[in-house]
Amino acid sequence: MRRSRAILTVLTTGALTAGALTVLSPAADAASTLGSAAAGQGRYFGTAVSINRLSDATYSSILNREFNSVTAENEMKIDALEPQQNQFNYTTADRLITRANEMGAKVRGHTLAWHSQQPGWMQSMSGTALRNAMKNHITQVMTHYKGKIDSWDVVNEAFDDSNGGRRDSNLQRTGNDWIEDAFKTARAADPAVKLCYNDYNTDNWTWAKTQGVYNMVKDFKARGVPIDCVGFQSHFNSGSPYPSNYRTTLQNFADLGVDVQITELDIEGSGTTQANTYANVVRDCLAVTRCNGITVWGIRDSDSWRASGTPLLFDANGNPKQAYTSTLAALGGSTSSPSPSTSSSASPSPSVSQSSGTRACTATVTVNAWTGGFVTSVKVTAGSAALTGWTTGLTLPAGSAVTNSWSATASGTSGAVSFTNVGYNGTVPAGGTTEFGFQGTGSAPSTTATCTAR
Ligand code: XIL
Repeated sequence: MRRSRAILTVLTTGALTAGALTVLSPAADAASTLGSAAAGQGRYFGTAVSINRLSDATYSSILNREFNSVTAENEMKIDALEPQQNQFNYTTADRLITRANEMGAKVRGHTLAWHSQQPGWMQSMSGTALRNAMKNHITQVMTHYKGKIDSWDVVNEAFDDSNGGRRDSNLQRTGNDWIEDAFKTARAADPAVKLCYNDYNTDNWTWAKTQGVYNMVKDFKARGVPIDCVGFQSHFNSGSPYPSNYRTTLQNFADLGVDVQITELDIEGSGTTQANTYANVVRDCLAVTRCNGITVWGIRDSDSWRASGTPLLFDANGNPKQAYTSTLAALGGSTSSPSPSTSSSASPSPSVSQSSGTRACTATVTVNAWTGGFVTSVKVTAGSAALTGWTTGLTLPAGSAVTNSWSATASGTSGAVSFTNVGYNGTVPAGGTTEFGFQGTGSAPSTTATCTAR
């Protein structure tokens, strides 16, 4: 049973309810590729793919081995898919879908509405005609790729670099509502796929551009404009360095109720500095429950759009760089252990539960009490499998009552009470944590809590 439940008492790491299971065997075979290590954390690790490089044997074999998500570097852009108005050419892009299916990889769709890489006919359009052409493009392309794409970059790079406002473009000049019009059109075309806004220089929380995008997403959520995710391109270099508040940025966006994805990662540099920055980016994503995955913008340095900055994980010969090793390690993988057959590819054994597939969690309780009241914070830690939800329970002393809680839904206010994840914090990667809290009157509960994983 995949959804078997496991109950653990705080600070004990054993004792599962599901009978006859060996518990939490230490990670005997750490994943040895980026994709399998990320999968072990409930994430994907992807790359941009340039379709004409698939015939390069080195490129192709690294792609197959390491990645479980792909983005077309150019082949799903507007000029590629609709070279003449209303004449769509899907042949090249469809090859990537076929390849992704062969690899068992997800596909990020990139990108439906953008000021750049527009076909000539679109560049010279304006007003209602352009708005309608944009909507037609979104509808046609999304219909063609229905069911084949995990997340679409619906709108790309719509914000100005310095002032936090909109970028001037022919699309922007069709009216300020062009972005929400694009998202509404996208939702109507395919209600199942995730719809993302994607941009660069939105990594540093203090930058005006970051705030501009944040405020737009907040407004969309408040008004019910459909948006599911925000993509952070994260092209890091000396002019746009990795910021120490990157995790804060990702978390603040996630707290708006959207997923976050690192969509075009490349980090110019070399050696230990570059390796450390890659590891920091990975750790930041893993720390944010709603960070779905990371895509690097190419495989070898020589494949990069910024090749001179050697910003990727493999050198021109296809050898893994120091940055590769640090990235893999940050994902919880290891190059030293030859994992025989990566377990994350979910062998569909119908009745036998593997310990690695058994969800478990622990709850650690911290109490700050005073005469007549208390505040309790609880850290939920996933076991060796990612969680899709959790409930923790504890017992209040007679006369005590919960008055309010945050980041969890409370059931009961006195005696035995329980707290269940809310929408945005049910998913916890293997070994990851999430926190919630509650306040109450009376004397404090003991620090013993149960944790039930889903
Ligand atoms: C780049 C590609 O890597 C290049 O091959 C192409 O010449 C230009 O576009 N932001 C994006 C990507 O959203 O689509 C861009 O890709 C890089 C910046």
